[in-house]
Amino acid sequence: MELSDLLNRVPASATIEMAQKARDLKAQGKDVISLTLGEPDFDTPDHIKEAAIRAIQAGDTKYTPVPGTLALRKAICDKFKRDNDLDYTPDQIVVSCGAKQTIANIALSVLNKGDEVLLPAPYWVSYAGIADMCNATRVEIKTNIAHDFKVTPEELDAAITDKTRLLIFSSPCNPTGSRYSKAELEAIAKVVEKYPRCIVISDEIYEYISFSEEKHFSLAQIPALKNQVVTVNGMSKGFAMTGWRIGYMGAPLWIAKACAKLQGQFTSGACSIAQAASAHALNAPLDATMVMRDEFLKRRDMMLELLGEIDGLKLNVPEGAFYIFPDVSAYFGKSFGDYHIQKPTDLVMYLLGEAYVATVGGESFGDDNCLRISYAASEESLREAVKRIKQALSKLT
Ligand SMILES: Cc1ncc(COP(=O)(O)O)c(C=O)c1O
Repeated sequence: MELSDLLNRVPASATIEMAQKARDLKAQGKDVISLTLGEPDFDTPDHIKEAAIRAIQAGDTKYTPVPGTLALRKAICDKFKRDNDLDYTPDQIVVSCGAKQTIANIALSVLNKGDEVLLPAPYWVSYAGIADMCNATRVEIKTNIAHDFKVTPEELDAAITDKTRLLIFSSPCNPTGSRYSKAELEAIAKVVEKYPRCIVISDEIYEYISFSEEKHFSLAQIPALKNQVVTVNGMSKGFAMTGWRIGYMGAPLWIAKACAKLQGQFTSGACSIAQAASAHALNAPLDATMVMRDEFLKRRDMMLELLGEIDGLKLNVPEGAFYIFPDVSAYFGKSFGDYHIQKPTDLVMYLLGEAYVATVGGESFGDDNCLRISYAASEESLREAVKRIKQALSKLT
């Protein structure tokens, strides 16, 4: 069947594929523990659900303005001011069906064929897929566990050129959980400001799941970068609202306008009910979010302790999000039965087939040594999963 060039350029999402493999095995009756998806295992807080119910009852069920309801865009501006000391006006905000669409909107609005997209690796899988969809040229900057998977200003300086149109990174980061400090972001900003054509997508969707003592810092807080940075955030992670599909950006006006124009031909405004619930959530105290954050922190510490007992795994201490990204390269060259481990995905397939634990190989995040374990699962499942992983790894020789 003939498909578009655009579609042929887009890779399937590895995380979604692995989640499906785990589901298939489960359907065959296998006791699979899936640690693949980037989704909080908590339910959306009741007060947010109630706001949605009120919106339905009030007849808030019609098309909304393409960039989002004014009520939500105002709530987002207030959030940016309250949490990030950022001054955006409602016309600089565009609400989309998830931050994934937000990022795609920006990329599709500014990229032309051959433009370079800088991706500090490991990166979130969809950055690569979206860059490919835009026919842009991906330039990966490899980082490693010894540097906490963070790009240094020197590495950035060596990779950025006049052809660089986009730099995309997340902090806290999916898949590594690393988080850039204010000082690190200031050093990065010094490099970026030399390239005014380079737009930066600062993906802060894990902002509220941060374990650092330091307050979250947004790259857009640096005045010199005001016209270059788009701050991306969303409801999925911090409010356990993945299914509601609300993401948003605070952007220089011309980018916000471009994205709204584009979105007007795709999805139009996001779901009216989800927008009403999101406005309520952003205006309300963050108590439920902080309870989830504390629980993630407890699990992170537990995972580090349990995984730390496995000799072959190299770990860093993630400062946010809900992932552990161990370096598993010590197992490369080892075998068990028909399984021969040469790369992370070989180990992922081994752990799935042998231990019934699903994880995701680092390759899809632009990393050749690690795999991603999501700890957005119950403590009991996590303990059992690590027990099985340990047992399976001990059989490799
Ligand atoms: C770093 C990062 N950015 C953006 C997203 C997109 O989130 P959503 O489209 O649910 O808002 C995700 C989801 O996994 C993510 O991990």
